[in-house]
Amino acid sequence: MVYQYLADRWIGRRRQVEQVAIDAIDGKTPAVVVTGGSRGIGLAIAIRFALAGRTVALVARDAGQLAAAVESVQERTGQAALAIRCDITDPAAAQIIEARLGEHNCYLEILVNNAGAGIGGEFILQDPASIANVVDLNVQAPTRLTRHVLPGMLDRGRGGIINVSSLGGLMPGPYQSAYYASKAYVISLTRALAHEVRGRGVRISCVAPGPVRTEFHEALDSDHRALYRYLLPWMSPESVAASIYRGYRLGHAVIVPGVVNAGLYRIVGFLPYQLIVPLVGLLLYPGPNGAQQDGARHDKVRKRKA
Ligand SMILES: NC(=O)c1ccc[n+]([C@@H]2O[C@H](COP(=O)([O-])OP(=O)(O)OC[C@H]3O[C@@H](n4cnc5c(N)ncnc54)[C@H](OP(=O)(O)O)[C@@H]3O)[C@@H](O)[C@H]2O)c1
Repeated sequence: MVYQYLADRWIGRRRQVEQVAIDAIDGKTPAVVVTGGSRGIGLAIAIRFALAGRTVALVARDAGQLAAAVESVQERTGQAALAIRCDITDPAAAQIIEARLGEHNCYLEILVNNAGAGIGGEFILQDPASIANVVDLNVQAPTRLTRHVLPGMLDRGRGGIINVSSLGGLMPGPYQSAYYASKAYVISLTRALAHEVRGRGVRISCVAPGPVRTEFHEALDSDHRALYRYLLPWMSPESVAASIYRGYRLGHAVIVPGVVNAGLYRIVGFLPYQLIVPLVGLLLYPGPNGAQQDGARHDKVRKRKA
């Protein structure tokens, strides 16, 4: 892509500035901490930062997947990555992550709030525990982590936060209502915080990807949701990560990976709710039996991964 080439050239001219930013403070190495870094978009983001010479720390719950992810970062970038086994819905997650970084003589310089989960189907048929889990993971956890790390970043006058939202965060999503609402919160929080901390050396961005080929859809996918599957362009985690990395370095407040998604992002802003809500409802409608299936599937996946 021509614009990607031009953006990379422009960033390249500023590499010297970046170099200063990755110097150690008090002998401690700055680390990029990626929640949900053991697979999917999170792992791709970690690899992208590691390719740029950054020390990365991957946070997730499954020890086996974490170990495989660390190996994959090493293989693809030649860099060692740090694995932090932690459930980020634990109220003490920020302290656990900080302690593990300290053991490796690192401090958190960039936080990527990426871990997230969806839930599909009709709201009243969803398991209340599954809904609570989505809110905990997509809303409470990134808010707590952000609140914990931001003061230190402001004191140092550098650092950054990348919040992974979704294109779905721009509109209400019937049949994925709690998920879409959680992602709207992320966009709103990011934009507000970016304004509050402007000019103080800390960069806060959020990402609004469209559909990406990852395990995320295991909890949501339904064969009957044909419109969603075939109408929207699907991206690879690697191309999403490349776009996130570029957008973050360029200082974009909202990063929308993919040309079609970027177009949709612009158009959605002009459409009235009376039109967009039924349209999204049509895209996400799981069929007469799908609502129950989706709820049950999410519950099964949640329990398996807990
Ligand atoms: N895939 C898409 O189409 C798409 C589109 C737009 C936005 N997004 C957003 O992108 C982000 C990443 O999605 P993905 O597609 O890469 O999902 P994914 O493949 O399902 O990966 C989710 C990651 O989050 C971790 N995770 C889940 N619960 C956790 C918890 N309680 N504590 C710590 N880590 C936890 C998982 O590891 P463990 O299970 O081992 O903990 C895994 O590493 C999410 O915020 C999602 O909403 C995805």
